[in-house]
Amino acid sequence: MPFATGPRGCIGFNFALGEVKVLLPELVYRYEFFKEGEEAVTYDPEFQLIRPMNFYVRAKKRTSWPEKSKDAKKIAEDYKEGEKPRV
Ligand code: HEM
Repeated sequence: MPFATGPRGCIGFNFALGEVKVLLPELVYRYEFFKEGEEAVTYDPEFQLIRPMNFYVRAKKRTSWPEKSKDAKKIAEDYKEGEKPRV
């Protein structure tokens, strides 16, 4: 329970989730991430959340981007024309 529950639960829960939804796509858009090392990831069994013990990644700044999907192109075109995207 990362944000706790009940009457004393986190009031920043929705805000924090909103931040992640903005930040994570921004990071993935700008950087490519590579797992460091070959060994399988192990997790801390005593921790109540998922906590990897040996999971390291390297980030490389993207200089080119994969081709957009057909759907993404359509959404971008609709958006440019001021239409509401149909998703
Ligand atoms: C990843 C981000 C966050 C996590 C994991 C988190 C986690 C938590 C947890 C576990 C509690 C309960 C603490 C307890 O048991 O006493 C809590 C309480 C609280 N959090 Fe957060 N929080 C986050 C972000 C935020 C943000 C962004 C805000 C404000 C904008 C915020 C404001 C508060 C407040 C005011 C309380 C006290 C609520 C009360 O005692 O009635 N938190 N948070």
